[in-house]
Amino acid sequence: MDRIASVSCARLRWALLGTRVARFGLGPLGARAKASLPNALPAAEAAEAPGTGPGDRRLRSLEELSGPGQLRFLFQLLVQGYLLRLHQLQVLCKAKYGPMWISRVGPQTHVNLASAPLLEQVMRQEGKYPVRNDMDLWKEHRDLQGLPYGPFTTQGHHWYQLRQVLNQRILKPAEAALYTNALNEVVDSFMVRLNEIMAESDSGDQVPDMAQLFYYFALEAICYILFEKRIGCLERSIPQDTVAFVSSVGLMFQNSLYATFLPKWTRPLFPFWKRYLDGWNTIFSFGKKLMDQKLKEIETQLQTGGPNGVQISGYLHFLLTSGQLSPREAMGSLPELLMAGVDTTSNTLTWALYHLSKSPEIQAALHEEVVGVVPVGQVPQHKDFAHMPLLKAVLKETLRSRPAFSFPCSLYPVVPINSRVIMEKEIEVGGFLFPKNTQFVLCHYVVSRDPSIFPEPESFQPHRWLKKSEPDSFGVQHPFGSVPFGYGVRGCLGRRIAELEMQLLLARLIQQYKVALSPETGEVKSVARIVLVPHKNVGLRFLQRPC
Ligand code: HEM
Repeated sequence: MDRIASVSCARLRWALLGTRVARFGLGPLGARAKASLPNALPAAEAAEAPGTGPGDRRLRSLEELSGPGQLRFLFQLLVQGYLLRLHQLQVLCKAKYGPMWISRVGPQTHVNLASAPLLEQVMRQEGKYPVRNDMDLWKEHRDLQGLPYGPFTTQGHHWYQLRQVLNQRILKPAEAALYTNALNEVVDSFMVRLNEIMAESDSGDQVPDMAQLFYYFALEAICYILFEKRIGCLERSIPQDTVAFVSSVGLMFQNSLYATFLPKWTRPLFPFWKRYLDGWNTIFSFGKKLMDQKLKEIETQLQTGGPNGVQISGYLHFLLTSGQLSPREAMGSLPELLMAGVDTTSNTLTWALYHLSKSPEIQAALHEEVVGVVPVGQVPQHKDFAHMPLLKAVLKETLRSRPAFSFPCSLYPVVPINSRVIMEKEIEVGGFLFPKNTQFVLCHYVVSRDPSIFPEPESFQPHRWLKKSEPDSFGVQHPFGSVPFGYGVRGCLGRRIAELEMQLLLARLIQQYKVALSPETGEVKSVARIVLVPHKNVGLRFLQRPC
């Protein structure tokens, strides 16, 4: 733990997945490939691409795939500003090249996939130890500080073993349900803070920056679950180290963009690399402090009551006392969980309320559903959500339209992009044969806007997620059309916690308030910052409903 003490930290460089553009070099992209490229396969044909039919097994190769040349791609990213709008660049690329195209930056080649059948083909072929991407930039920080890798940075058998341990007490819905009381405690504090902020506004009912308030809520909630410690994010005055943690997350993410795109030799010349490392270091210091407190607590319990005196309560406590994770290993993993669990949930909540405030009929139906199950004055419990299909549908629709997770360059929606490297074998996808180690970028943002799967994809229609038997449902047509928490054994570790946390808070807000956009908010667009975030403050009004 002493070694750990010297460390620093991180948030999610989720971004560096898919369209991950690592160090560059400006070699021209295979002109041959471009010239020979058929305008890529329309989505519907992708699964039945030429050469994949039973009678025709000629599989095309990577070189036959089209895409923007390397210089053009860099121009789009760096000059035209698509670096922060990669999801939009992917929309343009799909229109030009079809649902599968190639992009290159320096030595890195990415095969971009933008149709549900193509995503399905790759995901279903992943092996026992799926790889998202190499996470080099994050690993560099851990190596420099002598820190162990966590679930994002570890690969192979070691990752598998780590996940076996971390999955406990968090992965299954019934396990997540154990945190209901803790989460409700944080929701209580949130409601108090909400009222304080509203009282400070001129109209007495406005919150000027909803995303910031949800950020503090999500941070408070995940810290309470992971470290069993309230850290004061929802107090009037937020503790200094919590403020430092929050700004270091921003520091790390912003500077990781430059650290990703600028060659290594420029690191001493510009401040980005140092700021990137400083950001991570503060994040890890924050995690270490919380861990130290927990270790001390366990030690005291051991001293006073012996092994039987230790009260196993929350997640970290369980991991440490079960003997499956050493404090050092926990120090590598917990900050990564912390990073994963804040922007994702807070942005999903922000977008959900934004959409609901723009859709009064849906909000009215949701209010009716919520108070039908949990009347005003009662606090929602885990079991209640089995009777709230519309609430779940609102969250699913939010995650479809504003995905919350982006790996490529730390850039997007509530996950607009993810990726996979298939390491074990060559694989066939959409009529092409790809060599081992091909990096596939899964363009979720584009796929979740495919009108053949989601009619009127730009409109917010939670009813599309209701069971076919429910009134107004029109059923979702492809299981890989929207996969906001990823897929398979490498899928999101915190999914059930995130769902429960969002359901508990959203239900409580809708139970008590009618939510409306504040007059100055207007239309809000998304920009990619690892997750898709609002391009400006989302101001909301909370109008108390009659009891
Ligand atoms: C709305 C909320 C969230 C969304 C949309 C989300 C989405 C995702 C996605 C798409 C992945 C990649 C999965 C894949 O590659 O197949 C992921 C991974 C991960 N998530 Fe989440 N997540 C959310 C909340 C959380 C929370 C609250 C936690 C912490 C408890 C968390 C912890 C993780 C971890 C540790 C991984 C890496 C798993 C691995 O590589 O083994 N996530 N998440």
